[in-house]
Amino acid sequence: MSEIEQLVAQATAEFSGIGDAAALEQAKARYLGKSGSVTELLKGLGKLAPEERKSAGAAINSAKERIEAALNARRDALRHAALEEQLKVEALDITLPGRGLPTGGLHPVTRTLERIEALFRSIGFDVADGPEIEDDFHNFTALNTPENHPARSMHDTFYLENAPGLLLRTHTSPIQVRYMETHKPPIRVIAPGRVYRVDSDATHSPMFHQVEGLWIDEDVSFADLKGVFTDFLRNFFEKPDLRTRFRPSFFPFTEPSAEIDMSCVFCDGNGCRVCSHTGWLEIAGSGMVHPNVLRHVGIDSEKYTGFAFGMGPDRLTMLRYGVNDLRLFFDGDLRFLSQFR
Ligand code: DAH
Repeated sequence: MSEIEQLVAQATAEFSGIGDAAALEQAKARYLGKSGSVTELLKGLGKLAPEERKSAGAAINSAKERIEAALNARRDALRHAALEEQLKVEALDITLPGRGLPTGGLHPVTRTLERIEALFRSIGFDVADGPEIEDDFHNFTALNTPENHPARSMHDTFYLENAPGLLLRTHTSPIQVRYMETHKPPIRVIAPGRVYRVDSDATHSPMFHQVEGLWIDEDVSFADLKGVFTDFLRNFFEKPDLRTRFRPSFFPFTEPSAEIDMSCVFCDGNGCRVCSHTGWLEIAGSGMVHPNVLRHVGIDSEKYTGFAFGMGPDRLTMLRYGVNDLRLFFDGDLRFLSQFR
């Protein structure tokens, strides 16, 4: 084999053994660079006799072309291999099932509140809101509970430091007052919200919820209270046979006042652990709005009467879903909450 053909074979073999682009360019310089082997051969042409130059030149150029071709082929092969490698690394298996996005859900108590709102809206009640930081007047005085009234000690109130007269509302009843201050009878409204009391055990949380109800019009009677509330409970629990019982009680802002019990939704009144074997569950306070309350907001108590009630939606939620510890609602534990998604 001539020297030139040997050079071509050597270059081709060397290139094909090289695995990375930088090394390949270095090898190229050894053949085709300024002082590469091929370049040296071309420089040597001048020393040849003129009649030999033509064929030698053609042979060297042919060799140069083949070395360049081998170089380009190797460059392509390396580029291709690199691309293959990259595709492999970045490969996506589009046949894998998706992981799915975790979806949130409404808090069980929120569900209850929405259900209560829907039921009362369906019979023409408005839904109102009020501040959680309340003043003494709306939380107590306007509700016929003046300062030093013994009923104030029924509520273990959180007072605000350095803010005389301000407190965390102990019930949603102040919203009755605020609503009557801004609306004229006839009034039909419920007011759901958070309330606060110094209290904490399995059935009491320092923050809990209430839903207030108020209906003021001419000729509203205790019978209306019984009808509206019983009907509400039957719809809420989807139990048409649910019974209620109104026990005489005392609240400063109602006269007469009654505690509302309903037949136990677990044993239908036969007695079980949930109702302490009484067959009854305490569910709300209620009564006919005291004339003093109407007077405080400028409503003529000779012309208008009305009923009010205040119930605990947390309790309703526990009963509806069979939850036995109130604190679960406020711990924020997703293992519990995600069961209501
Ligand atoms: N505000 C009372 C409480 O928190 C509940 C209540 C009782 C509300 C009687 C009323 C009512 O509107 O008429 O204990």
